[in-house]
Amino acid sequence: MILCEKGLFTLHTKNTTYQMKAGDYGVLLHTYYGPRVSGGDLSYLIRYTDRSFAPNPEEAGENRLFSLDVMPQEYSTCGMGDYRLPSLELELPNGSRSADLRYRDFRVEKCKYALEGLPAFQGPEGETLVIVLEDAAAGVDVELYYGVLEDYDIITRAVRLVNRGENPVKVRRAASLCLDFRRGNLDLITFDGKHVLERCPNRAPLVPGIRSAGSVRGTSSHQHNPFVILCDHDAGEDHGLCYGAALLYSGNFEAAVERAQFDDTRLVMGIHPCHFCWPLAPGESFTAPEAALCCSKDGFTTLSHRFHRAIRERLIRDPWAGRPRPVLINNWEATEFSFDAERLMQIAESAAPMGIGLFVMDDGWFGARDTDEAGLGDWTVNERKLPGGLEALVPRIKALGMDFGIWIEPEMVNEDSRLYRDHPDWAFQIPGRPKVRGRQQLVLDFSRKDVRDSVYGALKRTLSSAEISYVKWDMNRSLATVWSAALPPERQGEVYHRYVLGVYDMLEQMRRDFPGILIEGCSGGGGRFDAGMLYYTPQIWCSDNTDAIDRLHIQYGTSFCYPVSTMGAHVSAVPNAQTGRSVSIETRGVVAMNGTFGYEMDLSWATGEEQEIIRRQTAFFTEHRGLIHQGDYYRLSDPFQNGPYTAWEQVSPDKREALVSVVYGTAHGAPPFLDLKLKGLDPALRYQVNGEGSYPGDMLMEAGWPLPMAWDDYQSFQYYLSAI
Ligand code: DGJ
Repeated sequence: MILCEKGLFTLHTKNTTYQMKAGDYGVLLHTYYGPRVSGGDLSYLIRYTDRSFAPNPEEAGENRLFSLDVMPQEYSTCGMGDYRLPSLELELPNGSRSADLRYRDFRVEKCKYALEGLPAFQGPEGETLVIVLEDAAAGVDVELYYGVLEDYDIITRAVRLVNRGENPVKVRRAASLCLDFRRGNLDLITFDGKHVLERCPNRAPLVPGIRSAGSVRGTSSHQHNPFVILCDHDAGEDHGLCYGAALLYSGNFEAAVERAQFDDTRLVMGIHPCHFCWPLAPGESFTAPEAALCCSKDGFTTLSHRFHRAIRERLIRDPWAGRPRPVLINNWEATEFSFDAERLMQIAESAAPMGIGLFVMDDGWFGARDTDEAGLGDWTVNERKLPGGLEALVPRIKALGMDFGIWIEPEMVNEDSRLYRDHPDWAFQIPGRPKVRGRQQLVLDFSRKDVRDSVYGALKRTLSSAEISYVKWDMNRSLATVWSAALPPERQGEVYHRYVLGVYDMLEQMRRDFPGILIEGCSGGGGRFDAGMLYYTPQIWCSDNTDAIDRLHIQYGTSFCYPVSTMGAHVSAVPNAQTGRSVSIETRGVVAMNGTFGYEMDLSWATGEEQEIIRRQTAFFTEHRGLIHQGDYYRLSDPFQNGPYTAWEQVSPDKREALVSVVYGTAHGAPPFLDLKLKGLDPALRYQVNGEGSYPGDMLMEAGWPLPMAWDDYQSFQYYLSAI
C-alpha cells in the first residue's frame, strides 16, 4: 500500500494511487492523485519552466526553471515564492510571517494512526506514512500523516507541527490538507444552506481566482459543510472523475479552492485561519485535524459508496458501528416546553403499541425551563413537571416496553439560571463589550476544563439516576464574543479550537462512562453535521425542518458524503411546523425511513387508520433496517431538478435485496408515463417486486420499472425487491 523509494512516496488503495516526491532541493512535490496506476515515478508530469514573475528559491541559484509558484506542492507554504493558497503560515519572534519546508525524513507504521483528542478513522488495519518536513529557520518540524484505508479507497491526512527550535513561534494557519491538480477545468460542488435547509449542493465550474466555503461560527455550521467535491465538468452519478474531501472537524473551517494562473488548481482545507493563532513554545506540538480524501473515476455514486462504507465501518465506533438503530418517538414538536410527566406518558403510551421502541424526552425537563429564556446550565430535573424525577418517570416508560432517552445542551447557559448566577465568568464574553445573545443564551467556555468538569458532573449524576439509553446532544447558537477568562491575551487565538477540543473531550468522557448510550448529535437540526461529530455521535439530527418534501432535498445533499444511518429523520405532524404543508402519513414515513427513522408527534391523536399505517411502517423499517442502513445507496434522481419525482434505492451488499423509494411532486392532469431505471442490481439475478413476478436484474436496470400515475400531490411508492 505504501511504497517509499529514493524520495518517491506512492500510496495505493484498491482503486486509487496517490504520489509525491521529494524533488530538487528537498521540496516535496505532489505528482499524482487519481485512478490506480501500476506504479513508477509520475514526476515526469511536472514541468520545470521559467515563467514570468515566478521567483526561485535561493538553493536554485541560477536555475530559473525551479519555482515554488509553478510546481504542484504537497503542503504549500507562504511568503517564500508560492503565491497560491498557503497551507502553513508561521509567525516568528521577529514578526515575519512565512513558511518554508524541505523534506527530511519519513517513516511507515503498520496501522492507521490515531490522533489524541481528535476524531480520526480507525485501524487496526491500514497503514500510515509519516513524512517529516522541516522549516529550518523557524525550527519547526511538519509531520505529514497519511492513513491508507486500502479496501475503502480512502486516504486520510493529518498534520503535526513540532517546535524543535529554541524560540517560540506562532502558528497562524495550519491546514489539514493541500491537494494540487495540474488542471483547472474542474467543477466545485459545495454543500450549503441555512437553518432548516442544510447541505444543498451548489455546483459551478472553477473560474480564475479563489472560491472558499467555510465557517467562523464556532461550529461547522448550517451554512457550509466541511465536505467538497471537485470533478470533471461532465461528471455525474455514474461517470466522470471526481474527488471528495471531508474534514473531520466540528468548528471553524475553510475549504478554499484556487484556479491559478497556469490553469492549475489547489484545494486547501483545514481550521479557518480567521480567529486562529496557536503559540508554539520550544518542545510543544500542535495537531491539525484529520481530512479524508477519496477519488472515483466512475462518478458520484461510487464516491458516496466509499465514504459511506468508511464512515459506517471505520469512523463510527463500537458498539454502534453496525448495530440496528431504534425507532424512536420524540416529544419536541408535539409539546415544545409545555409538558409534565402525564403528558409525556400519554405520548409514550400511544407510541408503544405501534412498534416504537425508544421514547425521547426533549428540551424542557430541567431547571426553570418553561421557555427558552431560562434554565440552561441547571441540569437537575424540574420536579414540578416531573414529580419524583427520572427515578419515577423512567420505570413507567420502561414498563411500556420502551427505552428512555433524554435531551441535553451542555455547551450553553441562560443568564436566568443558577449556573450563570454562580459563575457569570464561565460564559464567553469580551470584557468591555456588550453581550451577544442567541436564543437568549450564552455559550459556556468549554475550552476550560473546570467549566466542563462542573457541567459534566451534573449531567453524569442525571444520566446515572435512571436507565437511559439515548442522549440527544443539542447546540443552539453560533459562537460570538469568544474570549476566555482563563487564558492570557497572547493565547486568545487558541480559544475557538480549544472549545472544539473541549466538546470532543466531554463527548469522549460520556462515551467512556456510558458506553451503552446512543448519542445523537444536533445543532438546531443540522448545524454541526460533520464527519468529526460522527466519531462521537453515530447519528445526527439532520435538520429542524421535518417537512417531508423539504427533507428530500436536505437528505439528498447530505447523502453525498454521509450514510443514511447517520441522518436523524422523523415523521412529524401536519400541517408541517416549518412549511405549513400537508403530506400524507405514508409519504412522511417513506422519507423518514431514509434516515434513522422515528416520530415526532403526539400519536394519541392518530386515527385508527393512521395507527395501522404507523404500525406497518415501524414493522417494515424494523424488518429492513439492515438493508436501509447498511446497503449501498443510489440517488436515482435529483430533487433540485424539480422533476416529476424524487427516487432513491438501497441495495444489499450481496445484491439479493433492494428497496426502491419514490416520492412524487405536485400532481398534474394527464401525467406522463414514467419508467424508473434501477441501479446496482445483479443483471443475472431475477427479482420479485413487492413479492410478485420475476424480473431479470438487467431488465429492471436497462429498461426500468413502470411507475404508477400520480393521483394526488406528494404520493409515494416503495418497492421491495428480493432475488428468487
Ligand atoms: C433544536 C433541535 O434541533 C430541536 O429538535 C429541539 O431539540 C430544540 N432544539 C429544543 O430546544
